[in-house]
Amino acid sequence: MTSSTFIFTRRTLAIAVPIFAIAALGATPAHAQTAPVKVGLMLPATGTYANLGTMIENGFRLYVAEQGGKLAGREIEYFKVDDESEPSKATENVNKLIKRDQVDVLVGTVHSGVALGMAKVARETGTLMIVPNAGADVITGAICAKNIFRTSFTNWQPAYAMGKVAAERGHKNAITITWNYAAGLESAKGFVEGFEKGGGKIAQNLTLPFPNVEFQALLTQIAAQKPDAVFAFFAGGGAVKFVKDYAAAGLNKTIPLYGPGFLTDGTLEAQGAAAQGMLTTLHYADNLNTPRDNAFRLNFAKTYKVNADVYAVQGYDAAQLLAAGLKAAGGDIKNQDKVIAGMSSAQIDSPRGKFSLSTAHNPIQDIYLREVKGKNNESRGIAMKALADPAKGCKM
Ligand code: PHB
Repeated sequence: MTSSTFIFTRRTLAIAVPIFAIAALGATPAHAQTAPVKVGLMLPATGTYANLGTMIENGFRLYVAEQGGKLAGREIEYFKVDDESEPSKATENVNKLIKRDQVDVLVGTVHSGVALGMAKVARETGTLMIVPNAGADVITGAICAKNIFRTSFTNWQPAYAMGKVAAERGHKNAITITWNYAAGLESAKGFVEGFEKGGGKIAQNLTLPFPNVEFQALLTQIAAQKPDAVFAFFAGGGAVKFVKDYAAAGLNKTIPLYGPGFLTDGTLEAQGAAAQGMLTTLHYADNLNTPRDNAFRLNFAKTYKVNADVYAVQGYDAAQLLAAGLKAAGGDIKNQDKVIAGMSSAQIDSPRGKFSLSTAHNPIQDIYLREVKGKNNESRGIAMKALADPAKGCKM
């Protein structure tokens, strides 16, 4: 009895010692290296931007699926919130993902106002965040943070390029029209900067509340003022309606309509004849015809039965950026310093063309001039090469 008790104790010790030794060595419990990485998708599932949210999510999932469902050896588990493109609910919604679901990384969103609310909470809590669309300039400007990244654009980037192109095309005065919130206002401002630099003058900046689509009174005003050109920021369902209303009013025959490419991206099926021949500027086009983009577009179309657009690319690249961070940290998402270092220095092999991030964590990227032909936004060359946002006020 006594001797058998002794043997039992000795064996227990022989097993127990190595386990304690391993646990004491690493700060990260073994579980954190094998548990799935929790990705919180905060995107619009309803409203004028609903389809944009779907394309972003599908792009993200496609990249993960192409890697066999794992990034740097880690399974991905998704948590989702419909943000409704509603800024007043942003804090509550993002906290569902951070506090309730305890996600490792936030991916979102489309609407600049909602993204600003998310970024504020991400900064306060130190939660890793990747913006796969919203262009709010300050996110990679005055409120930039080491844990906040963007795989899309700043509102300034495509709009500034459009202003430059419009001036080069000989237009002397223009009217801007947009929704009265960060994305629209910053786009209009970017266009004005590029246009005035090229010698153009702005006759008027017209706005209406988001997501209002009662454009008639403003179109009547444009018809009366007869500017040389109109610059518009609208996207999703609102862009479809605006481009159709502009053509229905006969304005496209006399006053060219320009915009950042959101005006015609993912919308051409619905816009039909109304969009034909329109020129826009964006960091993506439908006919880049590179092996990288062709492979992406083929796989996307096969998987989801629709053609990829800029939103799908941005979602896909958000997953690529996360993969770069995870890889640098050996799959340990809790090792935030290493994840951030890996993301900051990543070279993303994007369907849009390769890009790296600025020190403010925004893509430095080519802006294409595109022309609508049938159901495609065809590239007409690069309007601005390797354009970096000025990142005003960013201190890291
Ligand atoms: C934005 O709110 O930042 C935004 C929304 C839709 C777009 C582009 C920008 O297509």
